[in-house]
Amino acid sequence: MAVKACIFDMDGVIVDTAKFHFKAWQRLAESLGIPFTEHQNEQLKGVSRVDSLEKILAWGNLELNSQKKIELMELKNKWYLDFVAEVTPEDMLPGTFDFLKSCNEAGVKIALGSSSKNAILILEKLQIIHFFDSIVDGNKITLSKPNPEVFLRAAREMELEPTECVVFEDAISGVDAAKSGGFRCIGIGDPQILSKADRVVESLANIHLSEL
Ligand code: BG6
Ligand code: MG
Repeated sequence: MAVKACIFDMDGVIVDTAKFHFKAWQRLAESLGIPFTEHQNEQLKGVSRVDSLEKILAWGNLELNSQKKIELMELKNKWYLDFVAEVTPEDMLPGTFDFLKSCNEAGVKIALGSSSKNAILILEKLQIIHFFDSIVDGNKITLSKPNPEVFLRAAREMELEPTECVVFEDAISGVDAAKSGGFRCIGIGDPQILSKADRVVESLANIHLSEL
């Protein structure tokens, strides 16, 4: 079936902000005396802020009350936003702008399917928000990836079926979400980590719309 829309995850697909999430979570984990590795970080990619904190606390066998958890999430987000303040269009990952442009020229719709509550701010900083027909972010969904809600809602907003859309993801949880929602999924990153994707490429510079 011809592709009618591309649904992009944001962090780690469109923009190199996944490294900022890692640094901010690592700082938080260390402040709590919990070791935190890049390998563990793979399990946080695509996962909501609250679910990420819960995973880190579970790794450290730490139980905290809900007020303390809110404070920690605010602190992590503050550190993360300090990095985001420096983001410019130069931080877009390779091929992003050209891929969005080719979708636009071919009449293929464009959506965002991100768990982030900071998505609109970041798309504005990248100066690409005008490309998007639908933006579904962490403020619109109740179930975090690997639940497919974020992608199903994006397809619904564009009045399309999942089989008419292709999802682009850098996270294991995001690939699982796309596949369980009935979408084709292109992984961005390491083929060994994203083995459930239909195809994996290094970046959007390594794939053309005509290949979908
Ligand atoms: C996802 C990231 O896109 O958004 C996760 O991959 C992050 O690492 C999640 O935790 C929530 O982001 P935010 O910006 O709302 O804390
Ligand atoms: Mg991502």
